[in-house]
Amino acid sequence: MAGLHPVIVVTGATGAIGSATAELLARRGASLLLLSRPSERLDTLIERLDRDNRVSGVEVDLSSFVSVRAAVRQVSRSVGHIDALVNAAAVFTSEYQQTPDAFELMLATNHLGPFLLTNLLRDSLAGAGRVITITAPSSTRVDMDQLTSKDQFRALRTFGATKAANLMFTFELARRAKRWDVRAFAYHPGLVRSDLMRETARPIRLLSRIASRSPDRAAEDVADLATSPAFGSTTGWFFKGGRRIDPPKATLDIEAQRSLWRRSADLVELGDSGF
Ligand SMILES: NC(=O)c1ccc[n+]([C@@H]2O[C@H](COP(=O)([O-])OP(=O)(O)OC[C@H]3O[C@@H](n4cnc5c(N)ncnc54)[C@H](OP(=O)(O)O)[C@@H]3O)[C@@H](O)[C@H]2O)c1
Repeated sequence: MAGLHPVIVVTGATGAIGSATAELLARRGASLLLLSRPSERLDTLIERLDRDNRVSGVEVDLSSFVSVRAAVRQVSRSVGHIDALVNAAAVFTSEYQQTPDAFELMLATNHLGPFLLTNLLRDSLAGAGRVITITAPSSTRVDMDQLTSKDQFRALRTFGATKAANLMFTFELARRAKRWDVRAFAYHPGLVRSDLMRETARPIRLLSRIASRSPDRAAEDVADLATSPAFGSTTGWFFKGGRRIDPPKATLDIEAQRSLWRRSADLVELGDSGF
């Protein structure tokens, strides 16, 4: 892995887990590119972390494919090799919302955007790069026809499907990316205090607030997955708390993983530039 200042791209850096991870990585000397929507929170974070000119922001709206492509061009102009990409951004919405590309917002932000981003960063990650996708052990069936149909929208099911898609994406990526010497991990942080599920029903919000913990432990795990030599020779694993765990069976069907990959590649018009 990288020298003293590994180059790490983090999405969702204004969020609970993303910002804790960025903070820890900055303290450990990483050079960070924070891919986020512009906000005061982002400016404040960069100002706080950028003590040695190694932390900068790149504007991205992951729900827009044009924006993802533009962000990748900017990343490629700023850095050569990327040691790790941390896919931490996600959204939950209780109502159907459509993106400019005419996809449902959670599908676009949580799966299709990160799928496109990761693939377009292929050549920068090549040669021992790592992709860490933060998700949950969701066993919700991933049915692209359902996910692309407004009539079949159900908020929690759609969200759960995008989290299962993160797992299936990681396992297929791990196989495909071997050719480029790139590793792929999925990571489950457990229940962490954040505003991610702020649009769920009040009892669910209250319960999860009581049961959740600070994002600091998750940040340590993600930072280790991104930089520790201990993970340099593994790929395709699902972690929780620094330990490998078994993914839900529903996400392990290799044919379903391949088919999700092909369908996603079509939807984002990836062409032949990806893994
Ligand atoms: N918290 C938990 O208990 C938990 C449990 C299991 C898995 N996870 C996973 O952990 C990851 C981080 O979750 P979190 O709890 O830290 O969530 P969070 O605090 O709500 O952060 C979400 C991040 O995603 C960004 N984001 C949302 N929509 C975006 C878009 N269109 N373009 C770019 N960025 C966008 C947000 O940026 P803005 O500031 O621009 O909104 C924010 O930085 C997610 O993948 C989540 O599914 C969390």
